Amino acid sequence: MKIRTGIDIIEVDRIQEAIENLGERFLNKVYTKSEINYCNNTKNMKYQHYAARFAAKEAIFKAISNEIALNEGDILNKIEIINRQDGKPMANLEALQIKNIESMDLSLSHIKKYAVASFSILFK
Ligand SMILES: CC(C)(COP(=O)(O)OP(=O)(O)OC[C@H]1O[C@@H](n2cnc3c(N)ncnc32)[C@H](O)[C@@H]1OP(=O)(O)O)[C@@H](O)C(=O)NCCC(=O)NCCS
Repeated sequence: MKIRTGIDIIEVDRIQEAIENLGERFLNKVYTKSEINYCNNTKNMKYQHYAARFAAKEAIFKAISNEIALNEGDILNKIEIINRQDGKPMANLEALQIKNIESMDLSLSHIKKYAVASFSILFK
């Protein structure tokens, strides 16, 4: 068994600028349709939700980079962040077909200017 962790912090402004300047090109490169729906369906914190998911993808990449042959830019929209009914975020890595995953845990937090993510993965 081995455990890997990843952590990331991002300025919400950077993600807001990318979305405003690059629009769908950026959104589709980074996010899945269900993530876009989740972020767009919130009232005041749309860009914080987008930034938290970006941080989550970076944190996940840090934890799994030894297990995959792809570059960071190629995997962002293959990692999906979903929220359980109670709000807890979970990582869906099915599209990456990583072998021997025992369990994973993801935690997100955001304030006005920053979003952070912490991810752990346990391999069999
Ligand atoms: C879940 C909770 C801890 C989130 O904390 P917060 O300070 O409001 O917000 P944060 O920015 O730190 O975290 C937000 C993220 O928490 C995550 N989250 C939500 N519900 C969660 C849960 N049940 N378990 C784990 N993570 C959860 C989500 O990923 C969310 O971000 P997202 O919507 O972009 O996915 C909080 O809303 C909550 O329910 N607290 C219960 C205790 C309470 O009511 N305390 C108030 C005392 S004054």
